[in-house]
Amino acid sequence: MSNLSLENFSWPSYRPPLETYKLDYGIGIVGYAGIVRAQHLPAYRLANYRVVAAADVRPERLELAKLDGIPNVYADYRELLQRDDVDIVDCAVGHFTAEDIAARVQIVKDAAKAGKAVLMQKPMSTDWNTAEEMVKIAEDHGIPFAVNQNLRFDPAIYLTKQFLSPERFGRPGFLQFANISFEGPKFAFGPDGVVMAWQIHAIDSIRWLSGGEASSVYCTNGNNASMYHLQFTSGMVCNYFEYHNADNFRNETPFRVWAERGAVRANHRWNPSSRWQRDLVEVRAYDWPKEIGWVSYNLPDELTNQDVFVKPRYDMCASIGGFIGMMGEFMQSLHEKRPALTNGRDNLNSLRIYFAGQLSAEKKRPVDPRTMELL
Ligand SMILES: NC(=O)c1ccc[n+]([C@@H]2O[C@H](COP(=O)([O-])OP(=O)(O)OC[C@H]3O[C@@H](n4cnc5c(N)ncnc54)[C@H](O)[C@@H]3O)[C@@H](O)[C@H]2O)c1
Repeated sequence: MSNLSLENFSWPSYRPPLETYKLDYGIGIVGYAGIVRAQHLPAYRLANYRVVAAADVRPERLELAKLDGIPNVYADYRELLQRDDVDIVDCAVGHFTAEDIAARVQIVKDAAKAGKAVLMQKPMSTDWNTAEEMVKIAEDHGIPFAVNQNLRFDPAIYLTKQFLSPERFGRPGFLQFANISFEGPKFAFGPDGVVMAWQIHAIDSIRWLSGGEASSVYCTNGNNASMYHLQFTSGMVCNYFEYHNADNFRNETPFRVWAERGAVRANHRWNPSSRWQRDLVEVRAYDWPKEIGWVSYNLPDELTNQDVFVKPRYDMCASIGGFIGMMGEFMQSLHEKRPALTNGRDNLNSLRIYFAGQLSAEKKRPVDPRTMELL
C-alpha cells in the first residue's frame, strides 16, 4: 500500500527506533572537550547511555569531569583503554593543530590494539592521507570506527531522509541546502574556520540525502560565502552554500528537496546555541488534490534564546537529538556487527567532496571527487 495517497498518509519517524536498540555499551570519553560538556553529555544522560570513564591531558578538564560525576578519570587515555567496561572510545580531541591530528591517529592505533570501537569527532582529519590512515588502522585491526556526523540524526534531516524512499517520494532530483550564520566559527578556511568546521556536516548530510556519491563538484568562495554545485550518481543535483556574515541577525538552515513524487521544504536548525529558526518539515506529494498545500510536521521546538541545556529533551533540540541518534546508531551497529551509518570509509567520501570543493575553488573548474581530477 502506498503511503502517498492522502488517506494513507502517515509521518515516518524523525529519529532512529532507539527503544529497540542495544544501548548499554560502556563509553570512555577521550578529550574532555567543550563540546563534550555542551552536547555529548546532556544527550547521553538524557538517553541513559553509560559513560564509564574520561581522559584528558589537562588537569583542569579532569577536575570538571569529576565534578560532572564521571566515575573514572585519567590523565593518560591508555589507562582508560585498559578498562574492560569501556567498549567505545568517544574521541573528542580537537582537529585544530598538527599535534591534535597526531594524537587522534595515536588514539585510533592504541584503541585498535586494545580492541575498542572508536567514534571520532568530525572532521575526521584536516588532510586526506591521515583520514585514510585512520580508516586503514581500524580496518586492519577489525575495530568498528565511525565519525560523529550527528547532523544526519537531526530530526528534520532524519525525517526528510525517510521521505526519500521508494514507498514515499522516491529519489531526490534537486536539493537546495544552505547554512546561513553569524555566530560560531568565523568565516575562514583553516581548521577553526566555519568552512572546515561546519561544511563537513552539511556535505555529509547532503550525500546521505542524495542516495549516491558525488560525481562532480564545483565550488566558489567569496563574500563570506562558499557555494557548491554538486552532481550525484543517483541523479540528484544540489545547490549548497555556507554563508557566514557577522552583520546578519539570525541563523537559518533552510533546505528543500524535489523528489520523484513529492517535495520537502524544511529547516534543520542544527546548532541550537541561540537565535536559530525553528525546526520544520513540510511535505507535499505532487498528486495530492490541488486544494491541499504543504502539510507540516511541527517538530518540537524551544523558544528562541532559551537555554536548551537547562532541560534538554530528545525532541526539543536538534543537536541533542543528533548526539543521541549518532551514538545510538553506533551502538546498534556494534550489536548487529555491521558498519555504522557514518563509518570511517563512508566518511572518506564526505571528506572527498570537501577537498574536491576547495580544489575546484582554487582551479575555478569542476572536480570529480572520486578521482580528484579536474573535469
Ligand atoms: N559534531 C559536532 O557537532 C561538533 C560540535 C563542536 C565541536 N566538534 C568537534 O569536537 C572536537 C573538539 O572540539 P572542542 O572545541 O570542544 O575542543 P576543545 O579544545 O574544547 O577540547 C579538546 C580536548 O582534547 C584534549 N586533548 C588534547 N590532546 C589529548 C590527548 N592526547 N589525550 C586526551 N585529551 C587530549 C584537550 O586537553 C581538550 O580538553 C573538534 O574536532 C570539533 O570539530 C564537533
